[in-house]
Amino acid sequence: MTGSESHGTIDARRAADAVRDRLGVTAPVTGIILGSGLGTLADRVEGARRVPYGEIPGFHAPKVEGHRGEMIGGRLGGREVILLAGRFHMYEGYTARVAAFPVRVLHALGVPRLFVSNAAGGVRRSFAAGELMLIVDHLNLTGQNPLTGPVESGETRFPDMSAAYHPRLRELLVASAQALGIPLARGVYAGLLGPNFETPSEVRMLERMGADAVGMSTVAEVIVAAACGMEVAGISLITNPGAGISATPLNHVEVMEEGARAADAFGRLVERYVSQL
Ligand code: HPA
Repeated sequence: MTGSESHGTIDARRAADAVRDRLGVTAPVTGIILGSGLGTLADRVEGARRVPYGEIPGFHAPKVEGHRGEMIGGRLGGREVILLAGRFHMYEGYTARVAAFPVRVLHALGVPRLFVSNAAGGVRRSFAAGELMLIVDHLNLTGQNPLTGPVESGETRFPDMSAAYHPRLRELLVASAQALGIPLARGVYAGLLGPNFETPSEVRMLERMGADAVGMSTVAEVIVAAACGMEVAGISLITNPGAGISATPLNHVEVMEEGARAADAFGRLVERYVSQL
């Protein structure tokens, strides 16, 4: 990164230029961001070509366990895709702009769609660990926004978010899950800054606000995707009941273990979805 850390369109183009040839894909149908513990989807990619984040201008090496830190080009379900295995979380001290920068790079690479995945706590009382939830909408409760500051070229100042998670892509995910016999709930994802897990009172507050799941990522990425005009779809893996819903204390190891258990169903679902884009 030269000069100030702007992480805008010009930097995104530089990063895209640095990885384009190395990824070996020409017309990817979607970018895919892998959440905590869901990195094994990368094993399903054929002809995978990997670029470590440390070799991409403007990217950082991930520090959170369960996040690999690679951009991967290849084929999934017979279609070209670009995977982002590893995120920059705002709770690590990154700004929302940095957290969402990889989405601008995907856009600069010509990727038309974004698939986001994450590990989340269940706010809906009926959710059990291991359930998959189609994200139908989100609440940005991070207190930050990746679009503050100058408008990046090709982006809009006031992006419409009334169908941020694209209805057609949502239907495609529902149909893919049905075809595979994989249960898929639908709900609203609340994105908080973290890094602490919520208090029981906060979980009750989120429930009243209309949230079904809570996590510490995703919303900044989806806001930038909306500003870039990318179509978005996403899935949360419910790794635990939210604080206060179950009696047990929450921990990151549990989040990772649940990711590993659900990885197979998640992988089959995403592969089928991508094959139909
Ligand atoms: N809260 C916030 N983020 C999470 C949780 C949770 O309970 N589980 C996994 N990510």
